[in-house]
Amino acid sequence: MAVERTLSIIKPDAVAKNVIGKIYQRFEDAGLKIIAAKMVWLSEKEAGAFYAVHKERPFYKDLVAFMTSGPVMVQVLEGENAIAKNRELMGATDPKKAAPGTIRADFADSIDANAVHGSDAPETARVEIAFFFPEMNIYSR
Ligand code: PPS
Repeated sequence: MAVERTLSIIKPDAVAKNVIGKIYQRFEDAGLKIIAAKMVWLSEKEAGAFYAVHKERPFYKDLVAFMTSGPVMVQVLEGENAIAKNRELMGATDPKKAAPGTIRADFADSIDANAVHGSDAPETARVEIAFFFPEMNIYSR
């Protein structure tokens, strides 16, 4: 299985709930290594650009408003099959549909405030990682 990198965001709701450490523990327990991390408070322009792919969706405006409502914790995770593994840990987009024991089932309140983001494919991961981190700030060994 290939070693991959994926972008993870702990969203404003989960940061406000003070569960960054609990979520990090799940990454590490699953064999995912945090190889870059920073806390940022996104501007409307930054959040709008990050979620540009959803620009035409009815929830876009609310999504941008939510993602700028407080600081987020952004990290690059590395490990075997990291993209799918992270999405498995996250659970379904709608926490009501998320499998028990997943991050969203345990920490998310709604489909809008759903605790975490994770890249969905290798090309998306590459673009999303580059959005937040220059290669020189990623510490992989
Ligand atoms: S979808 O519906 O399959 O396209 O959803 P997805 O590709 O997983 O990503 C949609 C992102 O928008 C956030 N969001 C919502 N999705 C669906 N419906 C509503 N109402 C909604 N509100 C916000 C959702 O959490 C996804 O964000 P990220 O950060 O990519 O997980």
